[in-house]
Amino acid sequence: MFRCTFYDYFCALKIVKGMNTIILGIESSCDDTSAAVIRNGYLLSNVVASQAVHEAYGGVVPELASRAHQQNIVPVVHEALRRAGVTKEELSAVAFTRGPGLMGSLLVGVSFAKGFARSLGIPMVDVNHLNGHVLAHFIQVEGEETEQPEFPFLCLLVSGGNSQIILVKAYNDMEILGQTIDDAAGEAIDKCSKVMGLGYPGGPIIDRLARQGNPKAYTFSKPHIPGLDYSFSGLKTSFLYSLKNWLKEDPDFIAHHQTDLAASLEATVVDILMEKLRKAAKQCGIRQVAVAGGVSANNGLRNAFREHAAKYGWKIFIPKFSYTTDNAAMIAIAGYFKYLDKQYCPMDAPAYSRVALE
Ligand code: KG4
Repeated sequence: MFRCTFYDYFCALKIVKGMNTIILGIESSCDDTSAAVIRNGYLLSNVVASQAVHEAYGGVVPELASRAHQQNIVPVVHEALRRAGVTKEELSAVAFTRGPGLMGSLLVGVSFAKGFARSLGIPMVDVNHLNGHVLAHFIQVEGEETEQPEFPFLCLLVSGGNSQIILVKAYNDMEILGQTIDDAAGEAIDKCSKVMGLGYPGGPIIDRLARQGNPKAYTFSKPHIPGLDYSFSGLKTSFLYSLKNWLKEDPDFIAHHQTDLAASLEATVVDILMEKLRKAAKQCGIRQVAVAGGVSANNGLRNAFREHAAKYGWKIFIPKFSYTTDNAAMIAIAGYFKYLDKQYCPMDAPAYSRVALE
């Protein structure tokens, strides 16, 4: 039998009370603590506190990330509300990243969201981080013209943990057509950059170096797997072994050929990504194609999208740089659409570290 608690009544009252739908979004899946406020689909604020503490270790240290989230979460939420000019009592719901991500990091955002929503008597909306990346294309900003994709469209989601081709049928209806069977594109770039002795994260460094290099200088192996799935572990190995051989002949090989190595690596990753995306677009007969996730900041990938638009008549959607890496604006917008669909989250919903897409 369905029973309404006092809390349910209180939430329902809040939902019907106002015309404005104001969502606080909270993101803490990895090493960025972020909070954002969205009113009726328009972004009012997006505050991100990044954690420099990991740079010294060449990768994210989960325990340190979790501790930094604990320190950051209250001031970041406070600042997001302040910049938005919104009081906590005006919020309609709290949206939060429930997963996937680092469990210790997620728990900070999830626990905060639960406590905050409960204390205000408003509903919670759980957001899958990956859906958030895709729906970042629907964030609107007052006074800015934003062209949004129409359904259905394809989205290439490329980050440090994922490389997926997604068929987006509606805000809350997505299907993964293909994904990596081993490493993600960003992970492969980061690892190759580490092998070259460059800093962390390697993606932006490789991107910068690649602009001055020759993308055809070196050839690395590309995967031959069927369907729309990706694989990047072979490229990583091929890069490592090629480099080892070259270093035997010239111990300063990396220093002498840094830009060409970066450009060739980037070009190989972009080729692998675009080949399957072309295949997906052809199979689905879809020409609206978006890109999302941290690696979508990459200039080589952005150029490849523009070239495909010109060559194949694709209508492309490339996110603003601020929405490529982890941010709460994308969680708030995804939460907004779920809230409109009345897809609320129960108080006992646990965080999850792995789950592809909703
Ligand atoms: O989406 P994201 O911020 O975090 C998750 O993995 O969820 O993506 C981070 C990844 C890292 O691998 C980083 O090196 C990569 O995005 N990245 C880039 C660029 N900026 C960030 N990769 C290539 N070129 C870039 N400009």
